[in-house]
Amino acid sequence: MSLGDLFEEVKKAYDIVEVVSGYVRLKRVGRNFVGLCPFHSEKAPSFVVSPEKQIFKCFGCGVAGDVVTFYTKIKGLTFKEALLELAEKAGISVDKRFFVEKRKERSLAELNYKVAKFYHHLLYFHSSSKEAREYLEKRGISEETIKTFLLGFAPYDGRVLAGYLRNSQEDLIKGNELGLIRKTSDGSYIDLFKGRIVFPVFTLKGECAGFGARALEKDVEPKYLNTPESRIYKKSEILYGLYQAKEYIKKEDQGILVEGYFDFLSLWEKGVKNVVATCGTALTESHVKVLKIFTQNWIIFYDGDLAGKKATLRSISLFLKEGILPKCVIISEEDDPDSWARKQNLKDESLKRKIEEITEDAITFAINFYKEEFSLNPSKAFKEIMEIFRSAEDPFLRNKIARELSFHLGIPENEVFKSFIKDITEREPIKEREEGYDKAEACLKMIAQFLINYPEYYKELESSGLSKLLEFYSTKFYGKFLKYLAEEFKCGNIEVDYIPDLEFQEALSDLLLNPPFENKEEVLQQIKEFIKKELARREIKIVTESLKNLQIKGLKEEIEKYLWVLKRSLTDKLVEETEKNKGGGYEPP
Ligand code: UTP
Ligand code: MN
Repeated sequence: MSLGDLFEEVKKAYDIVEVVSGYVRLKRVGRNFVGLCPFHSEKAPSFVVSPEKQIFKCFGCGVAGDVVTFYTKIKGLTFKEALLELAEKAGISVDKRFFVEKRKERSLAELNYKVAKFYHHLLYFHSSSKEAREYLEKRGISEETIKTFLLGFAPYDGRVLAGYLRNSQEDLIKGNELGLIRKTSDGSYIDLFKGRIVFPVFTLKGECAGFGARALEKDVEPKYLNTPESRIYKKSEILYGLYQAKEYIKKEDQGILVEGYFDFLSLWEKGVKNVVATCGTALTESHVKVLKIFTQNWIIFYDGDLAGKKATLRSISLFLKEGILPKCVIISEEDDPDSWARKQNLKDESLKRKIEEITEDAITFAINFYKEEFSLNPSKAFKEIMEIFRSAEDPFLRNKIARELSFHLGIPENEVFKSFIKDITEREPIKEREEGYDKAEACLKMIAQFLINYPEYYKELESSGLSKLLEFYSTKFYGKFLKYLAEEFKCGNIEVDYIPDLEFQEALSDLLLNPPFENKEEVLQQIKEFIKKELARREIKIVTESLKNLQIKGLKEEIEKYLWVLKRSLTDKLVEETEKNKGGGYEPP
């Protein structure tokens, strides 16, 4: 069975309304169900599920798709993972091949878990563990927190873990693959961690993916040692503590992002549990994609020094890219969230309130950061500020940013907008930026929507020159989409409701849920006209260009031949129309 077949099977096995109901309270409204979108926070429901079409769409944040897409997003899985999980739950038998990889990963995670428990055990029972327990106590970490996060102790003797795993050759190999132990030249194994507090890192499903470990003694380099990336430990995706904190983040509809293990634990210990940390790497786009699943309201809480502020600005950019305008916490130069929180002598709600007090929105944060530079060299500072905010693609967000920057910096709003746009042209210098560019995409989208609703018109559009048109638009998204659709129609597959490409699948769901055309015939005529005009325009372009070339070469006879061709096409009624509307392009309805 191919992945495509499996996809079909899985979809047949589930009712999207039932699956979504596990996460969203749905209410029937007419033919559809509506509820509050689980992917962004909202007060009025704009999340629609269609039981007939077995798809969903949020008219607020734009996510759309079928039951697998939904599962992928809500669980933070890859497409394949979601498919396999759903198949397993529905009892669909799946080709063993798909599971071999998965089973291997699971067994690595199981070994990690075994190691985590081992180190945790040593924290209490190893002969030299007193020092480690005292260290944690000194840093304000309670026994309850130690247990919740399965913190551990790796003794100074460098062969404790290797000795523990020695009973099983398989464990030794896995431990080596995970980087927990290393084979030396004499064939024996030594441990990675020596004299360290061990922090197991869990995935969203609660599997142990890897470890971070802090040196107990001062001035040991590196201060933190992490297990290397492996097939189950992807530092750019995983977040420390999210497994334990996610329920709190959802409940409070707000999350606090910190950079250090102790920053995390310190806040957690004091009752601020809607917190999460990156694991020894800078924040990435993938991290934000995961964070966004739980809430749209994020507070960046990094160190108070210059490095922390710079990292905050970088993270702001990443959040903006995902459509989130985060908030930021300001603390003094010498503090990090851990030391700051300890100085407050507060906990729970009062500590949360204190954090709120020193929190500002990202725009204010950036403006304050560049304040001095702005007074010295305003255009340089403005450019740098725009570097941060330019990653916002959402038009509403851009509006808000432009309005506020304009207000605070005294720069006209349209100037701010210009520098948003300037970047796009800088980034994509060779893309077709000719007039009518977006109109063409809008028209292609309309054709796609039309064909999905009325596939019986495919032949008619085909004879109007649809596939020729698509040749010109093979780089546009809906150009590609239509080409795929045309292939399906050609094969006699009229009811297209599955496309293996995730982006196409989203577009498909999106189109299916768009409101129907009021007047089908009118739209059909408009589409046909668009195709004809576009083809005529292209043809004239080709003829004029050939003519120009021949003129340069001075080929009289050839020119006459082309003039004749041109004359003939000019007699074409459609071309006359095109000439009349020259430069006007096509207006989508
Ligand atoms: P910090 O140096 O700010 O440490 O690194 P910290 O979290 O405040 O730790 P304490 O309070 O001194 O114990 C922040 C984070 O960067 C990663 C770790 O994830 C750490 O929590 N890091 C730091 C490393 O991965 N390796 C290092 O050598 C240092
Ligand atoms: Mn610290």
